[in-house]
Amino acid sequence: MKLKGKTALITGAASGIGRGIAEAFAKEGSSLMLNYFGKEKEAVELQKDLTSTYDIDVQIIEADVSNEEQVKHMVDTAVHHFNKIDVLVNSAGILTQKLFKDMDTKTWDQMLQVNLRGPFLCSRYVIPYMIDQQFGRIINISSQLGQIGGVELTHYSAAKAGVIGFTKSLAREVGRDGITVNCIAPGPIETELIEGLDNEWKQNKKKELALPKFGTPEEVAPSAVLLASDPDGNLFTGQTLGPNSGDVML
Ligand SMILES: NC(=O)c1ccc[n+]([C@@H]2O[C@H](COP(=O)([O-])OP(=O)(O)OC[C@H]3O[C@@H](n4cnc5c(N)ncnc54)[C@H](O)[C@@H]3O)[C@@H](O)[C@H]2O)c1
Repeated sequence: MKLKGKTALITGAASGIGRGIAEAFAKEGSSLMLNYFGKEKEAVELQKDLTSTYDIDVQIIEADVSNEEQVKHMVDTAVHHFNKIDVLVNSAGILTQKLFKDMDTKTWDQMLQVNLRGPFLCSRYVIPYMIDQQFGRIINISSQLGQIGGVELTHYSAAKAGVIGFTKSLAREVGRDGITVNCIAPGPIETELIEGLDNEWKQNKKKELALPKFGTPEEVAPSAVLLASDPDGNLFTGQTLGPNSGDVML
């Protein structure tokens, strides 16, 4: 029960890695405010599953993380209900593919809106509460593609590299307030996000990996538990953990 007494806000929690982190946090005793966007059925089912299995308070709230008004409302609702937010996990994200010569401004802007502005807005509205309580853990789900880049992914890689830079700078600003800010940069993980990727690409990618397999959300979630836990995560800030099957070795 490493997170007993803590409250976490997790974005994009109705599926994939966000959902895996919600399940792992619940197991460790954390109360949860789970954000979803359009996946109400999945969010309601997850809330039911978690509250029937664990003795914790789980709330769900719909918000588009790129919309400032909706993010403000989400954070205010979480603080009103729980009186605090100890941990923020920015997992909401999208993935599209386009060669750079075909990259239109709308596709570029939409990617940065969700995958970079989203973590900015959520952190921006949560940070004042964390500063007040002189404690907080922010965990941003970046991607190894922010470290190595990828064909047809200039917009995604730029957003995810932006998240890493954002994390390091914010970590330097708020460390004295008892707040840590870290990234997780997973390799390929079996979720809806990569379902649409070309099968041949997936087979070739698996062969390139030092551990020739794609990961699962359950294999990413323990990194988030580590970063959120006291004392396990106390000395990590500005770091990027890489559960990536050995694709990137820094
Ligand atoms: N799956 C991978 O291989 C992989 C690898 C590295 C990083 N990531 C990152 O992990 C995070 C989670 O992705 P996933 O693989 O679990 O995929 P996923 O599609 O299952 O999860 C993404 C979630 O974000 C939500 N979302 C999308 N736009 C949103 C918005 N505007 N506001 C709020 N929520 C929104 C979706 O509804 C979905 O539930 C993403 O940031 C993704 O970039 C995934």
